[in-house]
Amino acid sequence: MGDDLLERLRAAVGAPHVLEDPDLRARYETDWTGRWSGRARVVVRPADAGQVAAVLQACLAADAPVIAQGGNTGLVGGGVPRGDGTEVVVSLARLDTVGPVDVSSGDVIVGAGATLARVQEAARAVGWDVGVDLAARDSATIGGMVATNAGGVHVLRYGEMVEQVIGVVAVTMAGEVLGHVPALRKDNSGYHWPALLAGSEGTLALVTDVHLKLVPNLPDRVVALVGLADLDALLAVGGRLRRGLPSLRALEVMFADGVALTHEHNGLPIPLPGPPPVVLLAEVADAAGTRATLLDALGALLDGDPHVLSSAVADDESAAQRLWRTREDHTVAINALGIPHKLDVTLPTAALARFAADVRVLVTTMAPEARLVLFGHVGDGNLHVNILGLDPDDVTVDRAVLELVARLGGSISAEHGIGVAKRAELPLTRTPGEIAAMRAIKAALDPHALLNPGVIFATE
Ligand code: MLT
Ligand code: ZN
Repeated sequence: MGDDLLERLRAAVGAPHVLEDPDLRARYETDWTGRWSGRARVVVRPADAGQVAAVLQACLAADAPVIAQGGNTGLVGGGVPRGDGTEVVVSLARLDTVGPVDVSSGDVIVGAGATLARVQEAARAVGWDVGVDLAARDSATIGGMVATNAGGVHVLRYGEMVEQVIGVVAVTMAGEVLGHVPALRKDNSGYHWPALLAGSEGTLALVTDVHLKLVPNLPDRVVALVGLADLDALLAVGGRLRRGLPSLRALEVMFADGVALTHEHNGLPIPLPGPPPVVLLAEVADAAGTRATLLDALGALLDGDPHVLSSAVADDESAAQRLWRTREDHTVAINALGIPHKLDVTLPTAALARFAADVRVLVTTMAPEARLVLFGHVGDGNLHVNILGLDPDDVTVDRAVLELVARLGGSISAEHGIGVAKRAELPLTRTPGEIAAMRAIKAALDPHALLNPGVIFATE
């Protein structure tokens, strides 16, 4: 079978884009954290939707499992091979066209492999922006962001990735094309492909093109770091900011240990004295010429708040970027210390403080040698639980953390997806009936179970 498959793949995409050499394959075989890796049979780099369909048909004929990969910034092991050389990695990075932005309606059609940063740049140049933003913007691809239903730092204002998508084109294993671009903002003619594919993690079809709905570019932003005694104080301040500032775009949380670790890594001074036990990052943004008004509005709310221990407010763009480093550098600072177990969870707002306290006790009790770093998108109830110092293959602590989440009414995945990291825990928050329905959808679109097998579901 092998030679036939390779021949067909070469015919589909051209020999230079069928990577067999282990050195060339290597960067597609290990995830960003270093926790997930495997050996691919081959890495294939199609250039358009037609080539994707030809690649999938070749893999179907050879009964070869397929793993779709975008920017390889995923954190749950869903985009890298897991096996010992049987899986074909299909990199969608060459589908990187960014179409012209429609300046009047605010939308753009892009290839799945276009990075978020490139689309942001194209949109901002003509007064628009992408509603989702995240720290991995330079490598994360739009197709990958749809497949994982990415969240990021502006969900509070604009929603998740699925809410930015007007239409998609996706190719099934059999080479069927689902959806079309351009699509229509209103189209109730049957099943909504963007909604079905958002969060499907490459298990149903491969996204090749995305028609994105943009949001107005808001070039004037003000960012504040606010020092607080605890999460209850943060929720009180956050609630006041939400009610009082229609221009609020981000509400992020960090803790003293994570802030200290991050600044040890990036070498910048910590912007707040202490640092305080809990740090809130708030961002407001609006049209050009509004910076002074934003500063006044944010300042007035913070100055009069008895919970606020300290604050640092950025009144120009470069200062805003500096304050964001405290939050966005958490991920690289943590990874620099070793391979983390990354658990991305959502809690009901009322359970956030309880969870943050209980998870510390749980980790200290179960793994006294481990180091826990919490941060996240508190405006969405989303905490990133990072645990350092555990054996990468020992999931006992992960399991206990996710059980705690489930007991408190949360979700075991807020925005990173299930991947292989949490597939065994899916039944904690999804009923048997729901999982059976998900499997039935998968079986309908991928009857041979060749698309990203082992992702989302424990077994096929
Ligand atoms: C973030 O919020 O920075 C990302 O989800 C990445 C991470 O969790 O490390
Ligand atoms: Zn995040």
